Amino acid sequence: MEIAKLEPLIVLTGAGISAESGVPTFRGAEGLWRTYRAEELATPIAFHRDPLLVWEFYAWRRELIAACEPNQAHWLLADIEKQISDFTLITQNVDGLHAAAGSRNIIEIHGSIWRMRCTSCGDRWDDGNVPLEKLPPPCPGCGEKARPDVVWFGETLDPEVLDHAFETVQRARVMLVIGTSGIVYPAAELPRVGKMHGAKLIEINTEITPISGIADQVYQSKATIGLQDWWADQQKD
Ligand code: APR
Repeated sequence: MEIAKLEPLIVLTGAGISAESGVPTFRGAEGLWRTYRAEELATPIAFHRDPLLVWEFYAWRRELIAACEPNQAHWLLADIEKQISDFTLITQNVDGLHAAAGSRNIIEIHGSIWRMRCTSCGDRWDDGNVPLEKLPPPCPGCGEKARPDVVWFGETLDPEVLDHAFETVQRARVMLVIGTSGIVYPAAELPRVGKMHGAKLIEINTEITPISGIADQVYQSKATIGLQDWWADQQKD
């Protein structure tokens, strides 16, 4: 296989890649907490109204994710990165499983559930404690309440992070899109922009999505199987 013909290889992942690790997707039925959908709690309005309730939801998700391990798809992406020098992984996931599998060049466009941000002074810090001592967690600097450093519904993405992601997909020769419903913007725009700039677009998803129609190739299967099949197909060429 000629690795060079895959470079730059840009991968975009969504909740579907972590499904086989046991992390519930957002729009799947298992994504419900108590009776709430993520869209009802992962918002600035919900946090303003009831920060404790939103924190209880995140404490549950942190606990759930802490018990999960990367799966074969996360591992294989980390392995592919070792073989391809121009490789970037853009993820919408906040679960940290790509880093846990050894991926290095990651752009977390929706932030990380393992990072906190102070609602008052804006300080950010990593916190992997499960369970958390106090809800809402206090800022170590100013004592005000922290929030998870993730992008909520109705919030804009960090412009620098987003610019970096868009610049990256514009350079892509091959773009793999794994386990994303392709309906949450601006992330859903990334495959389109990649394609518009000449990338070969490959989708791996258990279902047909709005991205399937513009993809050059669709592996309609689980992330672990689809990625393995795609990688095996590259060895043949
Ligand atoms: N392998 C591959 N794809 C899968 C698998 C699997 N094992 N299981 C589910 N999927 C697919 C589903 O078919 C769906 O298209 O993964 C996708 C998951 O979609 P969403 O739950 O909408 O997740 P995502 O696209 O990451 O959501 C985007 O929305 O909720 C917000 O900020 C949150 O980052 C998230 C964003």
